[in-house]
Amino acid sequence: MRTSSDTVAELRARLERAEREAAAHQRQLERYAADLRESYRRERARAQQLRRSYKATVRALSNAVEARDAYTGKHAERVAAYGLAIARAAGIDVADEPQMEFGFLLHDIGKVGVPDAILFKPAPLSEDEFHAIAGHAEIGAAILRHVDFLDEAMLIVRHHHERWDGSGYPDRLAGEQIPLAARVFAVADTLDALTTDRPYREKVSFAEARQEILRGSGTQFDPAVIAAYETIGDDMFARLGESVRSSDNG
Ligand SMILES: [Fe+2]
Repeated sequence: MRTSSDTVAELRARLERAEREAAAHQRQLERYAADLRESYRRERARAQQLRRSYKATVRALSNAVEARDAYTGKHAERVAAYGLAIARAAGIDVADEPQMEFGFLLHDIGKVGVPDAILFKPAPLSEDEFHAIAGHAEIGAAILRHVDFLDEAMLIVRHHHERWDGSGYPDRLAGEQIPLAARVFAVADTLDALTTDRPYREKVSFAEARQEILRGSGTQFDPAVIAAYETIGDDMFARLGESVRSSDNG
């Protein structure tokens, strides 16, 4: 006959078993959580390493293009710095758009397909020669065509000489048909071209460059991008340009 003390002992034993099982279960869950944290950490480290490799590869390509032209120096790096600042001011989350910087850095990669005699010709260009140079936008896009991680950067490369009023090249896109990043690039590119010495003219100050760029709003440049550019001071651009000049990754 079962007594009440048997029942209590049995209940206690069941309770202890249940507690042991719960504790084992909890330990197992903690192990899963630790494993998950570790694989997440490893994945993140791998992704960061991959991003660094992408960036180093893009920089190497960009430097290879610039090495041909003693005048432009770190033009691509400065344009990338100016362009990212303008993009941020235009409300673009540049951290979410890593290809934007790649496109800025690689914009002139197609110049590898243009002969030196034409690219560096000191005299005015014939129409054929102008077409040969203008071809660099399409050549650049063709070079990057099969590189998956540069598919959006390729759009910047192809369209970096389009103009807001549709008179640019190669596709004569107008207005918002032009990818936004390429519209941002156009302002950054002109800013650097005007504020660095070139064989055919001397540089001007950031303030003078601004006056000239503002004149191009609505014709060469997207007025909305110009409005974003206007929120950034000349001293800021000067600092960005200086930090590129003094960096040693170029
Ligand atoms: Fe170009």
